[in-house]
Amino acid sequence: MQDSQTAKLTVGSNTYEFPIETATTGEKAIDIGKLRARTGLVTLDDGLANTAACKSAITYIDGEKGILQYRGIPIETLAEQSTFTETAYLIIYGELPTRRQMSDFAQKVLKNASLHEGMMHFFDGGFPFTAHPMAILSSLLNSVGCYYPYMVTNHREQDLEHFNDAAALLISKVRTIAAMAYRMKNGLPMIYPKRNLGYSQNFLHMMFSEPYHEYYPNDEISKALDLILLLHGDHEQNCSTSTVRTVASSGANLFSSVSAGVSALWGPLHGGANQQVIQMLQHIHDAGIKVEDYVEGAKKGQYRLMGFGHRLYKTYDPRAVILRSAAGRVLDVIKTRDPLLDIARHLEEKARSDSYFIERNLYPNVDFYSGLILKAIGIPIDMFTVMFAIGRMPGWIAHWYEVASQVKGRITRPRQIYTGYTTRGYVKMRNRDWENSSDYELEDNKGAQSKE
Ligand code: CMC
Repeated sequence: MQDSQTAKLTVGSNTYEFPIETATTGEKAIDIGKLRARTGLVTLDDGLANTAACKSAITYIDGEKGILQYRGIPIETLAEQSTFTETAYLIIYGELPTRRQMSDFAQKVLKNASLHEGMMHFFDGGFPFTAHPMAILSSLLNSVGCYYPYMVTNHREQDLEHFNDAAALLISKVRTIAAMAYRMKNGLPMIYPKRNLGYSQNFLHMMFSEPYHEYYPNDEISKALDLILLLHGDHEQNCSTSTVRTVASSGANLFSSVSAGVSALWGPLHGGANQQVIQMLQHIHDAGIKVEDYVEGAKKGQYRLMGFGHRLYKTYDPRAVILRSAAGRVLDVIKTRDPLLDIARHLEEKARSDSYFIERNLYPNVDFYSGLILKAIGIPIDMFTVMFAIGRMPGWIAHWYEVASQVKGRITRPRQIYTGYTTRGYVKMRNRDWENSSDYELEDNKGAQSKE
């Protein structure tokens, strides 16, 4: 149906040609921008699984081959040679920084590490202790912008003018807000960031130091945390990033766009899966369930094997491969034997030799092993998705910028296939056949009745 330049669509007796766009890596897409205007038809694509919603130059994934690259650099290379802050720069600005650029960026991140004292009130009764840290994070990322009104104008040119400062500020403040949320929830005194610590070290310090007792993280521990953040840096058009881009497409500022990204990330099918993986492993452990039986339950559709499967990867998620060996290393360093790691390895082995998982290409994803490392570091389970959010911040920022800097960007506004009633009349209250109509003697209904 297609030659090298166009694709032909036949509807009834009419044939239409549509241009084919080619990615730098060779994938092709039919440009259906004029589809409705020319044919009267729209496309229906549940979960947008076949739809390229935008053009983007940030991250490349080949799910069949298990390839992930940020700005063209393989994730394995970055995991081995880079740091989270340097990779954040790469994701946001498109190039690895020079020494000078790196130093300036790191200084900006450091300078923004503390929170405005006004924001401390949020942690002093502003949220109940039971609040989930993702709810706190989403709210406070939006709120933090209020302290920098010149960065939050919703006027594209003005917002873009302050982009560099806003980007470094968010990379920094997301970490501080996360740590403060943890301390507030646990009734611990606030610990302020330190100038002499690196990004991940500072996070661990803010989480675990006490006013009377400094926490000095082992080098391997802060490296493992840095690695987790780096591996989460970006992942092209996933649910939360698409959300950020959608919000940005309306002209909304960077702060509110990333705040929406946090909300999208919270769900258990997305970033919330890392929390669910540990809960699943713990449940298997505590209830003494045989791994084989648990796998059978997943096959029968009683539940999903959390940390398994991915919309794009039809082989191992390359991030999971890196984290699987990192998990072993971290547990060795802290000289802990976590029975959950054994259960995870056993689950992986069983699932990978089972035809259900083989036929559906269900492999461990990034969330399968990251939770085990976070748990070993001492991060509480309800903070796992927050860690994902800290890591994903550079990606959200880069995607916001890509949308905001488009000269002819359009607001995201999909169509739908309507499945509701077709046109019908309004039935007056007295003519509606309600059972127990006295139950409906509510204020609103009285108002409606009196209008009749
Ligand atoms: N356990 C058991 N069966 C599964 C699983 C799983 N984890 N994932 C998919 N399937 C089955 C599913 O039931 C379906 O089977 P069938 O064809 O018989 O109906 C088939 O595989 C395809 O599933 P799908 O829901 O159409 O796949 P999707 O691409 O829409 O969903 C997913 C992708 C990640 C939401 C899904 O695999 C899942 O729910 N996984 C568990 C949650 C998880 O680990 N999420 C983290 C994703 S990675 C981090 C991130 O980027 O967010």
